Amino acid sequence: MAEADPLSTPRSSTFDIGSLREFRPEAEVLERSKIVAFDSRDLRSRPFNLMRTKFTKQLNAHNLEMVGITSPAPMAGKSCLSMNLAAALARLDDKQVVLVDLDLRRGSIAEEIGLEFQTGINDYLTGAVDDLSQIAVRIADYPLAILPTKAISEDSSSMLAGKQYVRLMENLRAIARHAIVLIDLPPVFANDDAMLTAGALDAYMMIVDAGKTTQRQLKDSMEMLRPTPCVGTVLNRYKGSSIDSYGYGSKAYSRYYD
Ligand SMILES: Nc1ncnc2c1ncn2[C@@H]1O[C@H](COP(=O)(O)OP(=O)(O)OP(=O)(O)O)[C@@H](O)[C@H]1O
Ligand SMILES: [Mg+2]
Repeated sequence: MAEADPLSTPRSSTFDIGSLREFRPEAEVLERSKIVAFDSRDLRSRPFNLMRTKFTKQLNAHNLEMVGITSPAPMAGKSCLSMNLAAALARLDDKQVVLVDLDLRRGSIAEEIGLEFQTGINDYLTGAVDDLSQIAVRIADYPLAILPTKAISEDSSSMLAGKQYVRLMENLRAIARHAIVLIDLPPVFANDDAMLTAGALDAYMMIVDAGKTTQRQLKDSMEMLRPTPCVGTVLNRYKGSSIDSYGYGSKAYSRYYD
């Protein structure tokens, strides 16, 4: 039998969520960041449960393993939603979940949960670290791993065109055989990054900022991400709901998967 070439074997195919460094986010930090979906008793987690159900249906129906989350313009709520959806999925406990912060210029997932870290995806992309297990942390009590990134000032597009990026995607693909891989992306119009990454993904989810995102922006950004399919659009900050003061009303996400 031929031996596997160690250079072509993705190192993190052995990525084991159970043995990652554990991190327990503080309740106040989660509250401040509006990460509500870890707590099933919190009414604000309900829209995320609904989203989780629709999302997993799509994953199963179309065999999707790696899904990006993006929006046409900045500040639509992508990172907040990525973390909440990851938490809602991880609460099911029947599937491992990996959330990757690939917003190289404005990575914010770590800050959202109060995670301090030494090395991130940015270090993997420069080649300073070559094992994703050294970067990832596991959220205590959940089968959820976070791969954070530090905001970089260099040209992120050139990092996404490099050899290490190809390796990252190979490794994530290997991880996706046993886990749902969610990728928090930058906005489509900010730079080339979302477009460059979309090609390696199975699908993406588009966040629409109610009252801000225009039809034209939505159409143009979806055009730019072709041929990667859109698994759904999420209408965020919809004010027609009354469930809570955060705007996570049941209707806020009811337009998901139109
Ligand atoms: N439905 C909502 N109701 C109230 N606040 C929200 C809602 N969604 C997101 N936010 C808040 O809006 C701010 C921006 O959200 P977030 O960082 O998730 O956006 P983003 O799309 O990831 O931004 P960027 O383009 O910079 O990556 C955060 O403070 C977040 O807590
Ligand atoms: Mg973000």
